Amino acid sequence: MKRTPIGVFDSGYGGLTVLKALEKALPEFDFLYLGDNARTPYGTRSFDVVYEYTLQAVKYLFSQNCPLVIIACNTASAKALRNIQQLDLPKIAPENRVLGVIRPSVEKVAEITKNGQVGVLGTVGTVTSDSYPIELEKWSNGRVKSTVQEACPMWVPIVENNEIETEGAEFFIKKNIQNILRKNKNLDTLVLGCTHYPLLNKIIQKYVPK
Ligand code: DGL
Repeated sequence: MKRTPIGVFDSGYGGLTVLKALEKALPEFDFLYLGDNARTPYGTRSFDVVYEYTLQAVKYLFSQNCPLVIIACNTASAKALRNIQQLDLPKIAPENRVLGVIRPSVEKVAEITKNGQVGVLGTVGTVTSDSYPIELEKWSNGRVKSTVQEACPMWVPIVENNEIETEGAEFFIKKNIQNILRKNKNLDTLVLGCTHYPLLNKIIQKYVPK
């Protein structure tokens, strides 16, 4: 028997990559997906605005009977999750749960990396929040030795505007990958720290070492 749905939220289409993985991992559950295409992108917005929009989304999904909401968006996980968990949830729905994507990604990175040299690609918001380096330091059991980051502000608009198969996409992806490899040429793990980026994976693969 299917249960009440798990809410999945992202700033736009990108979180469908997370939804797909969740459906595969948890086929016995129903999901309700909310993408805020009207106000995307979140990556260039302030902390306060991302927090406000994310809280609205969480409240909406609660109102649709979702006792658990996954914030699939890295930017919203970086900028809003902690406040929602600590300040809002106890007031608005103490029995419900809200989870993000950064902590599980960090745990996976710690499992995968062999040399502890990690790169993170993300939105301006995610990168400037330093959430990944902070969490990698805290939760990787010392396995991650160094984290470098690169903000890729053009990548989300490329996906949202369906410009993936274009020379422009190729140009920006190549440039950002070269930049992060310049920061540390020994990276063995590169985090696609934004839900939209897996959709660009084919091009990303062309510019990273094997
Ligand atoms: N989906 C968001 C993330 O994972 C980024 C997209 C946006 O800038 O809205 O970070």
